[in-house]
Amino acid sequence: MATILVTGGCGYIGSHTCVELINLHHDVIIVDNLYNSSIKVLDRIKEITGVKPKFYQVDILDRAALDQVFAENKIDAVIHFAGYKAVGESVAIPLTYYKNNISGSINLYEAMAKANVKTIVFSSSATVYGDPASVPIKEDFPLSTTNPYGTTKLYNEQILKDVYVSDAEWSILLLRYFNPIGAHKSGLLGETPNGIPNNLLPYIAQVATGKREFLRVWGNDYDTVDGTGVRDYIHVVDLALGHIKAIEYALGHKGVECINLGTGNGYSVLQVKDAFAKAAKMEIPYQIMDRRPGDIATCYADTTKAKELLGWSARYDIDDMCQDAWNFAQKNPNGIE
Ligand code: NAD
Ligand code: UFG
Repeated sequence: MATILVTGGCGYIGSHTCVELINLHHDVIIVDNLYNSSIKVLDRIKEITGVKPKFYQVDILDRAALDQVFAENKIDAVIHFAGYKAVGESVAIPLTYYKNNISGSINLYEAMAKANVKTIVFSSSATVYGDPASVPIKEDFPLSTTNPYGTTKLYNEQILKDVYVSDAEWSILLLRYFNPIGAHKSGLLGETPNGIPNNLLPYIAQVATGKREFLRVWGNDYDTVDGTGVRDYIHVVDLALGHIKAIEYALGHKGVECINLGTGNGYSVLQVKDAFAKAAKMEIPYQIMDRRPGDIATCYADTTKAKELLGWSARYDIDDMCQDAWNFAQKNPNGIE
């Protein structure tokens, strides 16, 4: 049993990870400024697990407040989710993204070093592979980015690698997520983006609940099974369980490792639409549009390293993911409130 500080723990992936940590009797302390989440998430976590995590409404840009969190608690390790994540927005307001995701993270790493907490699991992204030359994508593929959001992930990886070079006491896992979707089985936790969703699943869910008229499919002229983009969708609960394995590994080893968290399977936009239609027992109307700038054709993970190093692999399939996303969307038409 360990005490884990979870930054961004009220968010989509963070909240699911807190549930799995608590299920395994770890002590969870959440730091979140609630910029993209609701305080009600804490009650939802309690409803699922019976435990309400300790919570600090703190911005990771506030170094003094972070220092206080470390001073008041005996923290063994950190899982760092806090950050902004919208690719398009990062192009429009890059400085805001660099400040929050880089300056905020450096604050956290400094506060950790000061408190002698040197074990961290960081939320990276498959976006650091840019447009990969081939699939499945292995961790040693070349890295590049096409937008400021992706660059913040790449820089954080580099910063943490440099931290390890400077001090071999650190234990650092850089988890590169593929496309997290789905929701907790209870329907109490899930994803509720503000405004018009950018990502595929939240958009389809809003078509299904009648909020949007039809799905806009961004291009059907890619070199894929049906011409639409292919991604490695992973159930958010599988991703959360991957973090449990990661934190357990990190607590027992020193070093720095990059690890893909995906299923290793690719699904096209139309295949996902069909899986959701099956789960919701309805047609999902759609229209083929032009390609979305910056999109790649195909992206899916080689998952060998996660299996070998962490003993983890994803369990849920695309039908489970759509079923759980639909359950959450129906139960929470206005998000977690
Ligand atoms: P999310 O927006 O639901 O959660 C992030 C949480 O961090 C939110 O609760 C937000 O309020 C909080 N936060 C943001 N800035 C903060 C700050 N300065 N101080 C304190 N709290 C702050 O996002 P998510 O989907 O759960 O993603 C979690 C992490 O995983 C992010 O770092 C994201 O970039 C990364 N990631 C997400 C995806 C995805 O598709 N969801 C894919 C790859 C990587
Ligand atoms: N798509 C549509 N219509 C939509 C939304 C998406 O056709 O309304 C298509 C996209 O063109 C793409 C696929 O659905 O082919 C998936 O798109 P998402 O926006 O859901 O996900 P991306 O793969 O583009 O991006 C996600 C995260 C990024 C992360 C990236 C790589 O949103 O943060 O995966 O990990 F960087």
